[in-house]
Amino acid sequence: MKTPQALLPLIEDGVIDEVLRPLKSGKEAAVYVVRSGDDIRCAKVYKDSAHRSFQQRVQYQEGRKVRGSREARAMGKATKYGRKQQEQAWKNTEVDALYQLLEAGVRVPQPYGYFHGVLVMELVTDAEGLSAPRLGEVELSADTAREYHGVLVRQVVRMLCSGLIHGDLSAYNVLVAPDGPIVIDFPQVVSASGNNAARAMLLRDVNNLTAHLGRWAPELFDTWYGEEMWAMFEAGELRPDSELTGEFEPDESEVDLDSIRQSINDAREEALIRQQGREAAEDD
Ligand SMILES: Nc1ncnc2c1ncn2[C@@H]1O[C@H](COP(=O)(O)OP(=O)(O)O)[C@@H](O)[C@H]1O
Ligand SMILES: [Mg+2]
Repeated sequence: MKTPQALLPLIEDGVIDEVLRPLKSGKEAAVYVVRSGDDIRCAKVYKDSAHRSFQQRVQYQEGRKVRGSREARAMGKATKYGRKQQEQAWKNTEVDALYQLLEAGVRVPQPYGYFHGVLVMELVTDAEGLSAPRLGEVELSADTAREYHGVLVRQVVRMLCSGLIHGDLSAYNVLVAPDGPIVIDFPQVVSASGNNAARAMLLRDVNNLTAHLGRWAPELFDTWYGEEMWAMFEAGELRPDSELTGEFEPDESEVDLDSIRQSINDAREEALIRQQGREAAEDD
């Protein structure tokens, strides 16, 4: 195929030899299958800041470490310099997160580096060697849904132990490889300690997974892994291999409990409606 503009510098530098095909283009990024020597990899090209909400990124980046104080100040402001720094930081965040998470024992695509604003990483494949489907695209048995839920909850625990929350975890940011699910798409990772919204984001991440996988294993709807792991994390008791029960006694004194329970119920209802829709479609 004709080499996309954004990948030309990588070919000139010899980072990649050939662009084989486009894999997926969303609102945030375009992903291509590329060849580097004998290896097939993928390249993620980020879209312009114009395509994303600036405000949203300011919120996400609250609490994230920035190199110099000038940069930190600039990033907080919507100045031209601020925007440039913001853009730079956004693009670097995903590759930094991938290296950090690999180190922490989280299963993520192996990064091969960040070049000219492009992330080159392992292409996750299915049993046939084709690009792996997303969790949201596959039908599961109850057993597999339970197993994947366990694996994914463990990945979230390991991420949290390394100080990070995904922030946009859903069945569409999980790939299904032959040996299990792999979390992807990290440009919006949130610092677990410095961000006021961290707990709410963690609960939303876990709840998205539970709401999705509960369609095949409805008993998952009665689990509270997000709440449980956050309570342990806050108490300084969470370890990468900490055993979780999925049970949780809510602290009645917490002011925002109602709204969290509401959002959880909303997500569960949504999942149920989707499931009923599917069943109705199958009956047709
Ligand atoms: N390492 C990878 N291996 C295989 N497919 C990938 C990989 N990274 C991304 N993809 C595919 O590209 C899509 C978009 O990538 P993603 O990182 O989720 O960016 P965004 O959702 O911001 O556009 C994913 O949903 C997935 O289908
Ligand atoms: Mg995505």
